[in-house]
Amino acid sequence: MDIKNSEADAPELAEPYLREVLGMAGLAVEYVRAEGNTLYRRDEDGGEIPVADFAGGYGSVLLGHSQPDIVRRARDLLEAGTPVHAQFSRHPYANELAAALNRIVHRELGTEEPYFAIFGNSGAEAVEAAVKHAELDRVLRIAALREELGRSTAAARSAVAAGTAAVPDGVRARHGIAAEADPAAALEALVERLDRDNTAQLDRPPLFLALEGGFHGKLGLTVQLTHNEAYRTPFRSLAAQARFVPWDRPETLKEIYARDRGAVRELTVSGGRVDVVEREFPVFCAFLVEPVQGEGGIHVLDPGFAEAIQRFCEEIDCPVVVDEIQSGMGRTGTLLASSQLGLRGDYYVLAKTLGGGIAKTSVMLVRESRYRRDFEIVHSSTFAKDSFSCGIALKVLELLEADDGAAYRRAVERGEALRATLESVRADFPEQVKEVRGRGLLLGLEFHDQSAATSASVRALADSGLFGYFLAGRLLRNHRVRTFPTASAMNTLRFEPSIELPDEHIERLGTGLRDLCRLLRDGDGESLVGASAP
Ligand code: F0G
Repeated sequence: MDIKNSEADAPELAEPYLREVLGMAGLAVEYVRAEGNTLYRRDEDGGEIPVADFAGGYGSVLLGHSQPDIVRRARDLLEAGTPVHAQFSRHPYANELAAALNRIVHRELGTEEPYFAIFGNSGAEAVEAAVKHAELDRVLRIAALREELGRSTAAARSAVAAGTAAVPDGVRARHGIAAEADPAAALEALVERLDRDNTAQLDRPPLFLALEGGFHGKLGLTVQLTHNEAYRTPFRSLAAQARFVPWDRPETLKEIYARDRGAVRELTVSGGRVDVVEREFPVFCAFLVEPVQGEGGIHVLDPGFAEAIQRFCEEIDCPVVVDEIQSGMGRTGTLLASSQLGLRGDYYVLAKTLGGGIAKTSVMLVRESRYRRDFEIVHSSTFAKDSFSCGIALKVLELLEADDGAAYRRAVERGEALRATLESVRADFPEQVKEVRGRGLLLGLEFHDQSAATSASVRALADSGLFGYFLAGRLLRNHRVRTFPTASAMNTLRFEPSIELPDEHIERLGTGLRDLCRLLRDGDGESLVGASAP
């Protein structure tokens, strides 16, 4: 099949505004073939122009484009006529995949506790499943709490009716109950008061915790857990709310707890006295955390902060959802980047490279001690858990684990080589480059803010809201390098290439970045904008 570049001037009906923005930044090209760490676009004469790919499908092609073993697996599955969709039947391939994930997770975490798998089709869908599961767990815990409160009230009523207990004067005074009321009336007044207060608590919606700069998706629920206000606030009425914790102020955890915690009151009977005790009410539904923030601009979670989060969540019995959608699948040298930080999740979510660069699949893993099997009845997705995606994902894990984990080691080694080049650019241009951050093949290079640059053309770029995209446009046009900033960190270029990254691509990127730094240094904003058609 011959895929042609689409007509440059054909009216765009698939997201026309984005097409316009791409055109402005010089990024409106069409790629027609992909292999290893290279994407190819057509030139005017029908020839192919190879482009070094540092965007890596937003992190979904760690093993390289058109990886031959993965392509072969896809072909084999299709040629064998394997039913892709056979919902509500046995899915041994999904079980095999869950088992393979468990083997690696157990090795990395040093645990044997099973993690059950719920499959999905996209990253946000897996986060959504984790959060939904956590809410089902919370709702069931609340139902159990409600029953316990009911039983305690019944026990107090029986004791008062039998004359073996009464509401003492001190308790009456504390709860505003008349001293002269007879024992039964005093108890009923107390019950009524507690019921009213408890009902308000028991009906409280869940509250989520997440980090400032975090990104967990853009669906109705997940977008409320994504920090970027531009994505989140228009939709704030759609879903439960989150509190965002700054990474440099772990003490915020305690402040949030003090402000938002929930408590219910329960009757107790002891030594002939009816009294009231306070019990914790589960308001906090889940704490979402990326071990390395991706879309937020490549920030590695500080291990001390990871430990503080872990301890806090244990104390308040709030499950930790570790979002490994961007950082996981071997990109930082282990399947779970969090295992290197000593962070243990109640839930893990994986996507992107799980699909080997060709399938669209994701998974939510939940540890046995938190698992609610009822979730399987109330949650489903037509396309999830299909044989094609599972077959591809199994091949991906096989490739990661082959040769005693050679692919993980390669991610670390290529990451170090790439990082060395980024660091050398920073060393040569400290006025232009602020910082190099990341782990393995998830790296970022942040430029200094240019909004106060002396050059008017550079200032205009900084003020356009598309600064990083203009830099990316220049890299593409002049250096055949593909990379992006993120919408949440416009001054940071993000690099997440595949393990097939050749030295030549690293060199080309280095040359391109030095070119950008020189243009910024010389105040040449015009050259950064360039022509719209690269
Ligand atoms: N969580 C993280 C950490 C992500 O990086 C992403 C997506 C998602 C969840 C949502 O996954 O797009 O498959 O629904 N990150 C993309 C990015 C958009 O820019 O890296 P999705």
